[in-house]
Amino acid sequence: MNVLITGGYGFIGSAVAERFYKEGHSIYIIDSLITGREEHVAIPHKSFLMNVEDPACDQIFQSVGFDIVVHLAAQIDVVTSINEPAVDTKTNILGLVNILNCASKNGVKKVIFASSAAVYGNASTLPLKEDEICETESMYGMNKRLGELYCEKWGQFYGLDTLCFRFANVYGPRQGNGGEGGVVSIFLQGVRDNRTLTVFGDGSQTRDFIYVHDVADAVYRGALSDATGVMNLSTNRETSINELIETIRSFATVKSPSYRESRLGDIDRSCLDNTQVKHQLDWVPLYTINEGLLLTYEWMTAAELEPAIEKK
Ligand SMILES: NC(=O)c1ccc[n+]([C@@H]2O[C@H](COP(=O)([O-])OP(=O)(O)OC[C@H]3O[C@@H](n4cnc5c(N)ncnc54)[C@H](O)[C@@H]3O)[C@@H](O)[C@H]2O)c1
Repeated sequence: MNVLITGGYGFIGSAVAERFYKEGHSIYIIDSLITGREEHVAIPHKSFLMNVEDPACDQIFQSVGFDIVVHLAAQIDVVTSINEPAVDTKTNILGLVNILNCASKNGVKKVIFASSAAVYGNASTLPLKEDEICETESMYGMNKRLGELYCEKWGQFYGLDTLCFRFANVYGPRQGNGGEGGVVSIFLQGVRDNRTLTVFGDGSQTRDFIYVHDVADAVYRGALSDATGVMNLSTNRETSINELIETIRSFATVKSPSYRESRLGDIDRSCLDNTQVKHQLDWVPLYTINEGLLLTYEWMTAAELEPAIEKK
């Protein structure tokens, strides 16, 4: 199949590209390189360096004929979404709408959309289920929720199949320091460079950390399945920041962290129920936090940017 991955030169996009390529599919990437890097993708593929909101995307859809679109290109920084909402909306809404439009006009079978745990905001009934009322905090979360609604509308009006994954905190090789899962990347870099880690709050705050290859596997399964709608993509396991540090300490030397006042707007606990994704896609997360952190650290300390070891 012809698979388009928007944001394919990014952290998650490059892992998704490898997953589809391994199964024999042809890979196409649309990316503006605003945060992505071409060297993230070593597998054969064809690329179009442009914005997802560019109307010229339609010519690419017409000429290639995509079967599957995985839409990952996004403005990923929560703070930017609050300070510059128009910047967030341009990529995260206008870009999505452009891609949905191109997909429905050009015979795409299915669009996968990267939504986020940020849609839940301060909802506190853990683990969060898909039908939980969203108490979205930031414009980033708000636009992700709106993106899900746009996907639903394209199903109703144009018969386009869409599946929206609410990613928990994704971590792994090639992650930058911005975005949502950034703490792992920041900590591992700090440890590698022998710096003191800074923890905001007392470190008891939790997140649901999921390894990027588990995400790529679920995206692959979701693209080939009949499943549509909204689905959490998570481990259903809470790990506190202090536990994260202790796990890193099991394979590397970590100085005593410096604890600072919590940041405004940071949520205390996060954990997403993954019953739906497990049942509907016959998927389970394969990587424990210990394994995922070690693989990421090995990648980070290796001299060359090579793909991390995969389980399958
Ligand atoms: N990393 C996480 O923990 C996490 C959690 C929830 C949701 N997500 C979502 O997953 C997706 C991928 O995130 P990531 O962590 O890999 O981030 P990333 O920054 O590594 O990847 C985003 C990619 O999109 C590209 N891009 C950005 N704006 C673009 C535009 N206007 N046109 C074309 N390309 C553009 C960037 O160059 C980059 O390659 C995003 O939609 C993000 O919101 C990520």
